[in-house]
Amino acid sequence: MFDTLITEFDKGLRTLFAPAQSQRPRPDAGLEEAELSAAEKRHAIGLMRVNHCGEVCAQALYQGQALTARNPAAREALQHAAFEEVEHLAWTEQRIRELGGQPSLLGPLWYTGSLAIGVTAGLLGDKWNLGFLEETEHQVGAHLDSHLTALPAADAKSRAIVSQMRDDELRHADMAHEYGAASLPLPVKGLMKLTAKLMTVSSYRI
Ligand SMILES: [Fe+2]
Ligand SMILES: [Fe+2]
Repeated sequence: MFDTLITEFDKGLRTLFAPAQSQRPRPDAGLEEAELSAAEKRHAIGLMRVNHCGEVCAQALYQGQALTARNPAAREALQHAAFEEVEHLAWTEQRIRELGGQPSLLGPLWYTGSLAIGVTAGLLGDKWNLGFLEETEHQVGAHLDSHLTALPAADAKSRAIVSQMRDDELRHADMAHEYGAASLPLPVKGLMKLTAKLMTVSSYRI
């Protein structure tokens, strides 16, 4: 157990402080950088910071959940989703820097909170653990959809990244469902939405 904790702590440090790697080519690889006004750039940076912070949270959630998942099928589902989340982390971080911004300073705070939530979901048992995964992915998918409307129309590169992430998240939700996710009670879904709202409002700015 102590070894596992050390490994997870090490993963946490790498999520927060080392550049993430991607195996797939970036979804915007063939697209030209557009001329954006200063205001458009600032807005795109803010939105991509929110998405990056969401991916930092996803890392922590899945780590917490994989730590406590009991059956190998649930663990495999979590690990597969987590692998693509590392790619999302890489794409959003690179895009923020290309636009001239910095990732949110609140990452470590959200990382710690999400790890605790992930461990808690895992301790409740596999069907709730997967239910939490499915609901998270649904909410993130809907949120990314809204960013496709909110991002500057000319910023085709950010849009291509967000669009691929949205498709991946919805696939993760379906996968959790297939592995036997339970449907979460409405108040829990509401609480998750509220927490996500706090994260999006704060990481857009700080
Ligand atoms: Fe993601
Ligand atoms: Fe996902």
